[in-house]
Amino acid sequence: MRQPHVPIMVSEVLKGFEGAELKVFYEGTVGAGGHAAAILEAHPEIERYIGCDKDPQALAIANKTLEKWKSKVELVQGNFADLQDQLEERGISKVDGFFLIWECHLCN
Ligand SMILES: C[S@@+](CC[C@H](N)C(=O)[O-])C[C@H]1O[C@@H](n2cnc3c(N)ncnc32)[C@H](O)[C@@H]1O
Repeated sequence: MRQPHVPIMVSEVLKGFEGAELKVFYEGTVGAGGHAAAILEAHPEIERYIGCDKDPQALAIANKTLEKWKSKVELVQGNFADLQDQLEERGISKVDGFFLIWECHLCN
């Protein structure tokens, strides 16, 4: 991670999931966990939040950011291209919400 992660467009992201009943959520670019924290706060019905990132340093930060939801959050170090395997390994056949954001001038 070259720069600290700053979650961008958080209100727009939350708007996209407004009114949705999210039980299982997959984020492919969980980074430092800022978007995840906002989504988990807005959707207390979430039971499992799978957060993937290729960067172990970012995941170490996410682990702290998401401490409050540790019973729901599973952090995975890997590539979101392997989403299907990552979900199958966890016995998940469908998700209710999905999110990726990787183009960011602050971290790319
Ligand atoms: C804009 S930041 C994510 C911000 C994050 N949602 C947050 O709240 O901190 C982009 C992230 O995407 C990750 N990333 C980029 N390409 C990836 C890939 N193919 N698989 C997994 N993670 C990837 C980077 O390591 C970086 O942490």
